[in-house]
Amino acid sequence: MNKLFVTKPLDKILGEAQAEGQHHLKRVLGPLNLIALGIGAVIGAGIFVITGQAAARYTGPGVALSFVLAGLGCAFAGLCYAELAAMIPISGSAYTYGYASLGELVAWIIGWDLVLEYAFSAATVASGWSGNFVILLQDFGVHLPPQWIETPGTQLYFFQDRWQLLTTIEPALKAAGISVDSLPHATAIFNLPAFLIVCVVSLILVVGVRESANFNVVAVFIKVATVIIFILIAAAFLWKNPSVAANNWTPFIPENKGSFGEYGWSGIARGASSIFFAYIGFDAVSTAAQEARNPQRDMPIGLLGSLAICTVLYLIVGTILTGVVHYSRLNVPAPVALAIEATGVKWGSLLVIGGSLAGLSTVMLTTLMGQSRIFYSMSKDGLLPAWASAIHPRFKTPWISTIAVGLFIAVFAGLLPISILGDLVSIGTLLAFIIVCIGVLVLRKQRPDIERPFKTPLMPFVPLAGIGISLVLMFSLPLDTWMRLIVWLLIGFAIYFGYSRKHSRVQSEQH
Ligand code: ALA
Repeated sequence: MNKLFVTKPLDKILGEAQAEGQHHLKRVLGPLNLIALGIGAVIGAGIFVITGQAAARYTGPGVALSFVLAGLGCAFAGLCYAELAAMIPISGSAYTYGYASLGELVAWIIGWDLVLEYAFSAATVASGWSGNFVILLQDFGVHLPPQWIETPGTQLYFFQDRWQLLTTIEPALKAAGISVDSLPHATAIFNLPAFLIVCVVSLILVVGVRESANFNVVAVFIKVATVIIFILIAAAFLWKNPSVAANNWTPFIPENKGSFGEYGWSGIARGASSIFFAYIGFDAVSTAAQEARNPQRDMPIGLLGSLAICTVLYLIVGTILTGVVHYSRLNVPAPVALAIEATGVKWGSLLVIGGSLAGLSTVMLTTLMGQSRIFYSMSKDGLLPAWASAIHPRFKTPWISTIAVGLFIAVFAGLLPISILGDLVSIGTLLAFIIVCIGVLVLRKQRPDIERPFKTPLMPFVPLAGIGISLVLMFSLPLDTWMRLIVWLLIGFAIYFGYSRKHSRVQSEQH
């Protein structure tokens, strides 16, 4: 029984990191690269797609308050990540911290759970990418067959020369007195663009386009510039049309409609658990610990700096978005583009769509790469079969696991809508945050002797608050999402007890 809680000795982990560091990974990343890496993984479908949908479905204009709540949870967990990442600068991130502090079973749970964070967020982002891509093509008069541009069962209507969702066109139909039944309509079978983009990104990862720091900086620049231009255009519009803003912002928190999460204060909590997705990814900075020049100093800067910048941008975008367009109209595949269109700046929506396509592509690249690193670490520890860390002789990438994960995720992206995928990613990440916060508490007790270049302040308040807010957000997610998490963990347990436990290197070395 206590074998399940066997820990991997910290000195061994640090030794392995050094040995591996000499042979594989170069220490080239400085603090700015790390902040850029964080922003690269963070800004994506969350702000470009999910924020609008959350405002429409749960929060109304109060979505900014949801950002504050989710941001606080991330800040507390981020401080804990910073302590562990500076103390154990290893690419296995939370999985390795778990192995060192809470034992093998918990490490396995985190590693398995991180698949939900990294791999499934790639699927979610692919879904957002597809929505923006289809809009871009239709802007240029190219119509893909409607059956192949959305997840199964989605109804699409041909209106104003494009295939669209009913939620997008409803206000215009009402205004023009047109009945939806009079429009050509189709039922979608599979989201082919989402499937294909995951395949393409996986192939890029296989042939070894390593996310060079410079490439990432350019992509981050495009993304951040897009967000800032949106803010400037939309703020100028609101400045000139204060009555539009006043109308759209009132009431700031629409009255609850009778069930949990449908507006009101419970809507703010439900919204926070949904837009929490927008923050996910800053922890990917910790997977680059072995490539940082000075991880002891720069891990906290990268983690907390990227989180702070994104929080400020998100608060402004959330507020402005709901000022320009009434929240009830934001449940569409590209809400930010819709808002900029509403300001009357014609090139604005093209810019936002182009910027979000570039931004979403790098999120997929970083998250799928983070995924392959976690599987690589788990396979090296014997918890996954050797093929998961098999390196391609020419490309020097973990090609089999990249292709296997890529195909699996591509199918999910084609079948499941963004809201289901996004919630699943959020619950998985929140669980990882809780385990990281517990890890800090446990290691402070068990190994007070280890040098901590960065110390989580206000102990034990910060980890406890991180756990508390994460739990609130988890419990604000629907029961379905919990069921999916439980099924996912059960599959994980089956693999652990059927395979990993028997092949664990740490266990066999203890005999
Ligand atoms: N935070 C990332 C996004 O919003 C996962 O796309």
